[in-house]
Amino acid sequence: MRQPFVAGNWKMNGSRETATELLEDVVQGLVSSHCEAAVCPPYVYLADGLRIAKGSELVLGAQNVSEEESGAFTGEVSASMLQDFDCRYVIVGHSERRGLFGESDETVARKFMAAARQGLRPILCVGETLEEREQDVTEQVIRRQLDAVLNAAGVHAFVEAVVAYEPVWAIGTGQTASPEQAQAVHAMIRARVAEADDTIADRLRIIYGGSVKAGNAAELFARPDIDGGLIGGASLDADSFLSICESAN
Ligand code: G3H
Repeated sequence: MRQPFVAGNWKMNGSRETATELLEDVVQGLVSSHCEAAVCPPYVYLADGLRIAKGSELVLGAQNVSEEESGAFTGEVSASMLQDFDCRYVIVGHSERRGLFGESDETVARKFMAAARQGLRPILCVGETLEEREQDVTEQVIRRQLDAVLNAAGVHAFVEAVVAYEPVWAIGTGQTASPEQAQAVHAMIRARVAEADDTIADRLRIIYGGSVKAGNAAELFARPDIDGGLIGGASLDADSFLSICESAN
């Protein structure tokens, strides 16, 4: 049985004041539950996250990580630095990193491995653009993104990882994938991992991201291969985020 997982990706939003308030509200509102809940604030608020989440049910993650371990890489943050702040998770391959910052499948694979080497659990994002869906190449795109990591890191690296299916056309648009559309891709991802290892595939948590809200989360999470969500906009409101976490129970 896979433990449901809901992670909030705050992206580049808020101030120290609002981040602190949001962290406090989420920590206070989280009831002990089956669902594992994480938030990924901007790097600079991780210290506040560490202080506020200490001893609570809430776990911390980061939004990005360097593929390098240390050295002259101005502006980068390494996996071991994230460990210093008790991060359990780190998002790799988010479509905003791929699209806006030019991260290739190979870069994403190197980041995934850098995180895994330090014992951080990567949340590997995959997903097709609207154009790719319309051209009916969704499966090829997801397979390519997944295979880049499977081939570089090996299937055993997926024991601790999470895969997030995030159709690019659904991110921040209010246009959520239907539960049927999402389930079909999640099943395809699990089947691809199962080609390498059945047991790992069966235990792998595959979460959905793209305009998940309190009102549509339960319907998505009810599907057999949807194990939770990666939440953007709705994670910036404590009540919405908590309600989404409850839907995953
Ligand atoms: O990482 C989160 C996703 O990009 C989803 O963002 O919930 O604002 O659509 P969204």
